[in-house]
Amino acid sequence: MSQAGLARADWWRDAVIYQVYPRSFCASGGTGFGDLPGVTQKLPELRKLGVDAVWLSPFYTSPQNDAGYDVADYCGVDSLFGTLADAEHLIKSAHELDLRIIVDLVPNHSSSEHEWFKQALTSPPGSPERDRYMFRDGSGDGSEPPNNWQSVFGGPAWTRVVEADGTPGQWYLHLFDSTQPDFNWENPEVWDFFDDVLRFWLDRGVDGFRIDVAHGLMKVPGLPSLSPEDLADTRPDAQKPYWNQEKVHDVYRRWHRVLEEYGPDRILTAEAWVWPLESMAQYVREDEMQHAFNFAYLSTSWQAESVKSVVNHSLSAFGAVGAPSTWVLSNHDVIRHSSRLAMGALESVVPGGLGPKSPEKPDPDVAMRRGRAATTFMLGLPGSSYLYQGEELGLPEVIEIPDDKREDPTFHRTNGERYGRDGCRVPIPWEKDAPAYGFSPSGQSWLPQPDTFGDLARDQQEGVEGSTLELYKTLLRLRKAEGLGRGELQWIDTDSPDVLAYQNGGITVMCNFGDTPFDLPHGDVLASSESERDGTLQPGHAVWIQSTATE
Ligand code: GLC
Repeated sequence: MSQAGLARADWWRDAVIYQVYPRSFCASGGTGFGDLPGVTQKLPELRKLGVDAVWLSPFYTSPQNDAGYDVADYCGVDSLFGTLADAEHLIKSAHELDLRIIVDLVPNHSSSEHEWFKQALTSPPGSPERDRYMFRDGSGDGSEPPNNWQSVFGGPAWTRVVEADGTPGQWYLHLFDSTQPDFNWENPEVWDFFDDVLRFWLDRGVDGFRIDVAHGLMKVPGLPSLSPEDLADTRPDAQKPYWNQEKVHDVYRRWHRVLEEYGPDRILTAEAWVWPLESMAQYVREDEMQHAFNFAYLSTSWQAESVKSVVNHSLSAFGAVGAPSTWVLSNHDVIRHSSRLAMGALESVVPGGLGPKSPEKPDPDVAMRRGRAATTFMLGLPGSSYLYQGEELGLPEVIEIPDDKREDPTFHRTNGERYGRDGCRVPIPWEKDAPAYGFSPSGQSWLPQPDTFGDLARDQQEGVEGSTLELYKTLLRLRKAEGLGRGELQWIDTDSPDVLAYQNGGITVMCNFGDTPFDLPHGDVLASSESERDGTLQPGHAVWIQSTATE
C-alpha cells in the first residue's frame, strides 16, 4: 500500500471506478462463465486503462436466479466463480497494482436458498425465524396476497408458502424475484447480521461496498396497498411505500461507523433510484455513504439543454451536502449507453430492454458516435465516474439474443413482454481470433456473442489511434494529469442551443448534441471522440481542447 493512490484517504472524491460483471468478464476456467481468477488475470489491463478502482458485482454463493443478486451465503464464494482464496488473491493483486476493490452488498433480500429463509419455511407463523423476513397472512380468507404490491421484475410481490403440515399458509414479500425474499429490517438480528458481513469483507481488505437497492430496506408500517395510479407507475424512481423511507438512513449511519473502524478511506456507494437529486443526496450526507450512482444523469436523453440542466442540478444537490457528484452512463441493469442515447423515449426503453421485436432500434453508427461523445463529455466533469465493462470497447447493446437463451428474470416473469437486461451482460471480447473472442478458452459463453464483437475486441483496439479503447485511455490519463475530478466546472457560452462547452482547469470540453456541424475554436485538440480534424465539431462529436485557446 505504499503507492500514492492507495495512500489518499479521500481518493473517492475524484476516482474513476470500473464495474466488473464477473460472469461476463473472463472465464479463466474455460466454462461459459467468467470467474475470479479471470478477473485477477486481467487486472493489469484495467491498470493500463487508467481507472482507480474496480467494483465487482456479486460472486457469492447463489442459485443464480438473478445472476448472483440472490445471495445464499454472504461470506462464501460461489463455485461458479472460484473460492474464498481466489477472492483474497484478487484483492491483494489489485492493491499491488494500486487498484482498490469495491464489492457488492445485497441487503434488501437474500436468496430463498439462504439458511435463514429455509429455517423460516420450516418454522411456524409468528416464530423468530419468520420474523427475519416479511411474512404476512393473506387478505380475505388468506388466499389473496396481503396487498397489491408488484415485483420490480413483473407479477405480484408476494408468494404463498405451504406450511409444515401441508396446508397453504402465509405469504412472503419479494420486491424482486420470488426466490429473493425481502429481509425484515425492523428486526435487530438483521442489523447485526449485516454488520458481521461488512466486517467479514473488510477483514479481507476490501475498500468499500456498493449497496444494492439501498432505497428499499425499510417499508411503510402496515404495508398499505398502492393507489391505482401509483400501481400503474413503473418508473424505477416512482414513489412507493417500499422505496426511500426515512428510517433507511439509520442503517447507513450505522454502517458508516463500522467502516470507520477500518480507517478513513473505506466507502459505501448507494444504488438508490430516488428522485429528486436532493433526496438522492441524502444518502451521501457526511455521516452516511460517500457515493450515490447518479441515475438522473444516466437517464438523461441526448439533448444539450437536458444534459446541462442535470449537470447543474447534480453539482448543486451533491455539493449542498459536501459530497462529490458521481457520473455514470452504463451498468449491468440498463441498455448500454451508446445504444440508449441513439434512441428516443428513454422512459419506456430503459426498464424494458431491447430485443428482436422491439419497435425502435438504435442505428449502430449513431450509437457508436454518441456513445464515445457522451463519455468524452462525462470524463471532464468534476467528481467521480463509474464505467461499465465493455464500454471502453464501444460495445453496443446486444439485441439479437434468442428467447431461449435469455436469463433475466424480468424476461420470464413478464412472459417476454420486457426483454430485460441480458443485452448489456453479454461476455466481453478480448481477442478477435480466439474462441469466444478470448472470453473463454473453451469457446463457451453463457450468452451468445454477436459477430460484431470480433472487430471490437480489445486486441483490435490496443494501440490503434482513434479506437474507443485509446480514446478512454487518453481521457483517463488527461483527467488525472489535470486533476479534473477535483476541479470546478464553468459553462462557456457557445451561441448554439445544441452545443455545450465547459471549462474545467486547463481543459475545455465541447460536445455537439445537434444535427449540424459547429466551428471549433482555435486551440490544441487534446482528445477527440472522432478522428475528423477539419476544425469542426460534427453532430455526435465531443473534444477536449487546451483551455487557453478559448479564453
Ligand atoms: C439491483 C441490481 C440488479 C438486481 C436487483 C435485485 O437493482 O443492480 O441487478 O437484479 O438489484 O437485487
